[in-house]
Amino acid sequence: MDLAVETHELTRDFGSFRAVDGIDLAVPAGSLYGFLGPNGAGKSTTIKCLTGLLKPSAGSMRILGIDPLADPVSVKRRVGVVPEDLALFDRLTAQETLTFIAQVHSLDAATARSRSSDLLEVMDLKTAGTTLVTDFSHGMRKKLSLAAALLPAPRLLFLDEPFEGIDAMASRQMKDLLLSFVGRGGTIFLTSHILEIVERLSTHIGVIANGRMVAQGTIAELHAGAGGGSTLEELFIGLVGGEARTPAALDWI
Ligand SMILES: Nc1ncnc2c1ncn2[C@@H]1O[C@H](COP(=O)(O)OP(=O)(O)OP(=O)(O)O)[C@@H](O)[C@H]1O
Ligand SMILES: [Mg+2]
Repeated sequence: MDLAVETHELTRDFGSFRAVDGIDLAVPAGSLYGFLGPNGAGKSTTIKCLTGLLKPSAGSMRILGIDPLADPVSVKRRVGVVPEDLALFDRLTAQETLTFIAQVHSLDAATARSRSSDLLEVMDLKTAGTTLVTDFSHGMRKKLSLAAALLPAPRLLFLDEPFEGIDAMASRQMKDLLLSFVGRGGTIFLTSHILEIVERLSTHIGVIANGRMVAQGTIAELHAGAGGGSTLEELFIGLVGGEARTPAALDWI
C-alpha cells in the first residue's frame, strides 16, 4: 500500500509531559483520513510535527515518501496546511493573501489569478473585497486559510478542524470540495470533533487518546475490531472513554 503519511514511534514532549506518545500513523495515498481524539489528546501536536511547525522529540516520519526533517522544503512544496491557529496576515485582504501565497510558491501570474478567482468564488469571499483579514469573521478566516492551502494545488492536505465555526452552506461546500480533491487523487488528513461529518467523508480513521493511538483502519475495520457500535460516535466513546460522562453531578445548574 502506498502511504502518503507514515510515522514510526512519533513522540513529542513538552517538558516532562508527553503529548504524543510513540504513534505509528499509516495514511494511504488517496484516502481521507479522519484523525479523532478527545480534547488534549495530541491531534494538533501531531499535525504540527507532520507539517514542520514542531520538531518531534523522537520517532521518524515520511510525508509523500520524503523525510521532512531531512528535506523540509520539498515537503512544504507538496503539502497544504490549515493549522489550528490559521496563521494568516491580518493586514492583507483575501485577494492579497492569495497573491502572496502564489508568489511564495512561484506560480505564474495567470495561473495565480485564475485559481484565486475560483477559490474566492467557491469560498464566497469575493464580496469581502477590500476588507482586511483582521476584520474577518472566524468562518471567513477559516475559508481563506483553506483557499490559501489549496492554491498551489498540493497533493496532500492537513486540516486541523476545518469544519469548526463555519456555517451550514460553507460546510456543504467544504465537504464537496474535499471529496473532489480526494476524487482527483489527493490525500486529506483532518481532525474534527463533528463525527457525523467524519463518518460521511472518511475512508480511514485514526483514534488517539492521551497521546497514544488506540485504533486505526477503515471504519469497517474499526467496527469489526471493537465488536459493535452502530455509529462512529458510539465506536469513538467506546474506544476513548468508556461511558460518556453525564451531568448528574451538576444538579445545581
Ligand atoms: N506548546 C505547548 N506547551 C505545553 N503543552 C502543550 C503545548 N501544546 C500542547 N500542549 C499539551 O499537549 C496536549 C495535546 O494538545 P493538542 O493541542 O495536541 O490536543 P488536541 O488533540 O489537538 O486537542 P483539541 O481537540 O482540544 O484541539 C495537551 O495536554 C496540551 O495542553
Ligand atoms: Mg487541536
